[in-house]
Amino acid sequence: MAVTEEPGKPRNWQERLQILQDRLYDRLFHNFVWRSIFRSGYPNTPRSQMLVVATNVFLHLHPTRIHRTHVKITHTYCLGGLTFFMFIVLTVTGVLLMFYYVPSTETAYQDIAALHTNVKFGLLMRNLHRWTAHAMVILVFLHMMRVFYTGAYKPPREFNWVVGVTLLFLTLFLSFTGYLLPWDQLAIWAITVGHGIAGSAPYLGDEGQFVLFGGFEIGQPALIRFYTLHVLALPLLAAIMMAVHFWRIRRDGGMARPL
Ligand code: HEM
Repeated sequence: MAVTEEPGKPRNWQERLQILQDRLYDRLFHNFVWRSIFRSGYPNTPRSQMLVVATNVFLHLHPTRIHRTHVKITHTYCLGGLTFFMFIVLTVTGVLLMFYYVPSTETAYQDIAALHTNVKFGLLMRNLHRWTAHAMVILVFLHMMRVFYTGAYKPPREFNWVVGVTLLFLTLFLSFTGYLLPWDQLAIWAITVGHGIAGSAPYLGDEGQFVLFGGFEIGQPALIRFYTLHVLALPLLAAIMMAVHFWRIRRDGGMARPL
């Protein structure tokens, strides 16, 4: 006797699995939440692919198309990208260090010394932060030189060069404010030099010095100010300027072509 099949009913386990997969796909991607984040649907045309990339804050860093000359590593040596990577490593290791360091002139030195002996991986954490900071300063200079030698500072990229200069100063300030935090002899004498430099600035000398160091002498007010600048104000500013820097690369028509 012939068995009559019910229409729409799966005939075997493969069909059953297919139906389950389709339902899961539908649940995941065809709903209000998904659509509120990704507006352009499945990107199967050049236009929708471009839309997905242009409307996503992370994907827009990598354009859908680039000039063939930019595929060559020797065009940039990824020096800007490496500088950014150093910034990320510094942020992660810096947050870890914040668990152990208290910005007090009484305890700062011991806190750092304790990292070497009492804290598991403390020395590694500190040295990662230190060496990455040195690397970032070197890399930002090398990146600037690359930009200069490829003529990428010229119009239409002159504004991004200026954004870069602010990033250079922010990197140097981050480095200087961090140098002070261990409150050891190196730090105290470095800040004494910085104190002198700030004081000899024309017009704003004394007032600038007072605001920056929280008084006429180097002590607790200076340490807490430099700490706040180092862990909050400067990294935040740098992150904002980096976002502007990356966004401008796209706005200025992608990276410069080789000369
Ligand atoms: C924290 C510091 C900085 C970061 C993280 C950074 C990051 C980047 C990245 C990722 C690029 C894409 C190309 C590449 O990887 O080399 C780039 C391009 C560029 N950067 Fe920077 N940069 C920094 C500082 C600077 C400085 C100091 C200058 C110049 C004073 C500068 C000027 C430029 C310019 C003009 C471009 C476009 C280059 C081109 O079109 O070929 N940047 N930057």
